[in-house]
Amino acid sequence: MRAVTWQGKRDVRVETVPDPGIVDPTDAIVRVTSSGICGSDLHLYEVLGAFMRPGDVLGHEPIGVVEEVGSDVSNVSPGDRVVVPFQISCGSCFMCEQRLYSQCETTQVRDQGTGAALFGYSMLYGEVPGGQAEYLRVPHADFTHIRVPPGPADDRFVYLSDVLPTAWQAVEYADVPKDGSLVVLGLGPIGDMSCRIAQHRGAASVIGVDLVRERLDRAAARGVTTIDLNEHARDLADVVRGLTHGRGPDAVIDAVGLEAHGAPMARGAQQMTGMLPDALARPLMKKAGIDRLSALHTAMELVRRGGTVSVIGVYGGAADPMPLMTMFDKQIQIRMGQANVKRWVPDILPLLVDEDPLGVDDFATHRMPLEQAPEAYAMFQQKADGMVKVLLSTS
Ligand SMILES: NC(=O)c1ccc[n+]([C@@H]2O[C@H](COP(=O)([O-])OP(=O)(O)OC[C@H]3O[C@@H](n4cnc5c(N)ncnc54)[C@H](O)[C@@H]3O)[C@@H](O)[C@H]2O)c1
Ligand SMILES: [Zn+2]
Ligand SMILES: [Zn+2]
Repeated sequence: MRAVTWQGKRDVRVETVPDPGIVDPTDAIVRVTSSGICGSDLHLYEVLGAFMRPGDVLGHEPIGVVEEVGSDVSNVSPGDRVVVPFQISCGSCFMCEQRLYSQCETTQVRDQGTGAALFGYSMLYGEVPGGQAEYLRVPHADFTHIRVPPGPADDRFVYLSDVLPTAWQAVEYADVPKDGSLVVLGLGPIGDMSCRIAQHRGAASVIGVDLVRERLDRAAARGVTTIDLNEHARDLADVVRGLTHGRGPDAVIDAVGLEAHGAPMARGAQQMTGMLPDALARPLMKKAGIDRLSALHTAMELVRRGGTVSVIGVYGGAADPMPLMTMFDKQIQIRMGQANVKRWVPDILPLLVDEDPLGVDDFATHRMPLEQAPEAYAMFQQKADGMVKVLLSTS
């Protein structure tokens, strides 16, 4: 089959690799029809390369049709249309019973000390072949799938794999009070969708911050108050306070993560680890940290006293200084983590109806054939041609 493979820093290629087959009786094989590229894939493309091996198949946002199931799979059958969550979870362990699916104890990657295994997400998360491919092997398939009806285009459901539950969790964790205010840092797919969900769930004021014109415009067109960081890098806190009763918003979502613009110290560390051989870079990255923390620091600065910061952007590293005094003194509540995908699906599915309140049908700005994945990655990283979200088509 054809698959998008990681080959090196900023080097992905579509190659012919062996078709996946049933290995364990709990597996299913899915024929992928569409697959998203995520902001998280950009971390692998650039700063997390030390955790990848050339040839690793990327991707964790697939939708498709079940082709084959193992002998122990009874919840899903060949011919079913399914979205595959980005994480692999068993559905029945201690963590899954608490619906903390991204912490599944059956698939936790213990040798790396990380949570549930993820599709296409490096040795940190189990080195499981990903879904930017014609076929995907799905372990623990009885639980690791979301069945969706045939009919509507893939766009309607594909974001159940990641964007929708991730943004839903970001908003849920932000805990915006009724008629409250929310600032969303970063208007990529996750931040944009977080704004839409917060509006839908009744936040009175949603303010979005980014540096990319098309992304700001797109959020503004849906009623988000936008702030261009290029113009307000120095006085962002003042501008936000001016919009929030002089106090700051009730909650801030950090939908940026570890590649935020504007933190030169961490950029140095990222570049330094980028030049080391992988075996040296890996422990250094885990220890010394590779974050550019500016978005997270901004979140702490902006949020009102006693407010909540919801971190949905991906961070790594352990040694970056956090503004503990501010966090303590302002009595900030912080919640974060990998989205527990299936936890939120029952809340989201009723919104994926004809009225399309969240605007999923035209959420993707680009659709490209799988064969053009190298161009798609480059465009998405550079935010070229107004690209906010791209789906790769495999059929
Ligand atoms: N927690 C999860 O389960 C989960 C799931 C999916 C994605 N993510 C993470 O969410 C983050 C966003 O993903 P995405 O797909 O939207 O990616 P993206 O890279 O397209 O979006 C990031 C946006 O942040 C903007 N930005 C950069 N620096 C900024 C700053 N200092 N202030 C404000 N905006 C800034 C960029 O211009 C960009 O538009 C990534 O870190 C990704 O890894 C987490
Ligand atoms: Zn993702
Ligand atoms: Zn589990």
